[in-house]
Amino acid sequence: ALISMRQLLDHAAEHGYGVPAFNVNNLEQMRAIMEAADETDSPVIVQASAGARKYAGAPFLRHLILAAVEEFPHIPVVMHQDHGTSPAVCQRSIQLGFSSVMMDGSLGEDGKTPMDYDYNVDVTRRTVEMAHACGVSVEGELGCLGSLETGMAGEEDGIGAEGKLGHDQLLTDPEEAADFVKATGVDALAIAIGTSHGAYKFTKPPTGDTLSIQRIKEIHARIPETHLVMHGSSSVPQEWLAVINEFGGAIPETYGVPVEEIVEGIRHGVRKVNVDTDLRLASTGAVRRFLAENPAEFDPRKFLKASTAAMKEICKARYEAFGTAGNA
Ligand code: G3H
Ligand code: 13P
Ligand code: NA
Ligand code: ZN
Repeated sequence: ALISMRQLLDHAAEHGYGVPAFNVNNLEQMRAIMEAADETDSPVIVQASAGARKYAGAPFLRHLILAAVEEFPHIPVVMHQDHGTSPAVCQRSIQLGFSSVMMDGSLGEDGKTPMDYDYNVDVTRRTVEMAHACGVSVEGELGCLGSLETGMAGEEDGIGAEGKLGHDQLLTDPEEAADFVKATGVDALAIAIGTSHGAYKFTKPPTGDTLSIQRIKEIHARIPETHLVMHGSSSVPQEWLAVINEFGGAIPETYGVPVEEIVEGIRHGVRKVNVDTDLRLASTGAVRRFLAENPAEFDPRKFLKASTAAMKEICKARYEAFGTAGNA
């Protein structure tokens, strides 16, 4: 059944678990997420970005998620719009049937320009008013994703600040977070702690200086009732990088957010954990390997099945590690 984000995250807070929010663009990702949830008895958050709508088309995306609800009626599903760049974008998603939207007012409508606090409060509060009238939840974001080492957001395309960010933008301020939640009424708050979107988060395994789980603890201590959201939370599995590079890929050395650090965040108020890149890496590695090992195959169902299986394994591992398993 389709449920709101608020319902699911309230349950997660009550029982002390986190929920991975996987990005979805196609059938294979959808099947991987739902089959993994079914096998681990986990509730699901599927999220669609503007890029996903552009790739699949809004009606296909919507019906893909509705098909998941139809095939797995016993699994609670949140249909979330990732990184909305304006109240108008969020409104269109609500009309499409999404049960949750993100109004990312940390950046402007281009998804690139860092905006000031007052702008963020204004667009987020307006979105909350509209969404709550329809029973839809809202995630806001305070602070900008980016590397604490370089001040750069990392992603070339998609959502990410352009130019160099300061430390005050890269680490969400607990006092400002308290004020923001009060002023906007958001159901969940995405915070900046040194992660960034994409595969290139850290040039070496992160330490407390480059990934601030400490900041999560400080924010949670200040606003214990608020559901916190971690973006840029792919772990960038070294084994999948090795597979990709063994079978013709060329991905330089890079590190993600270790699962055990996310689990520590979940102990301190993190309830939603955004993961996209890990499924992309697993899918690419599986397809590269399958085609290299089966050069005579040309039925896409064969290599897409390998892709689905690889993504499903990642989903199951996250459902187990984050404590989502058993809570459907
Ligand atoms: O915001 C980042 C997510 O990974 C979505 O990426 O915009 O390429 O679909 P995308
Ligand atoms: P990753 O690129 O780390 O998977 O992050 C995804 C995300 O935050 C989507 O909003
Ligand atoms: Na989101
Ligand atoms: Zn994100």
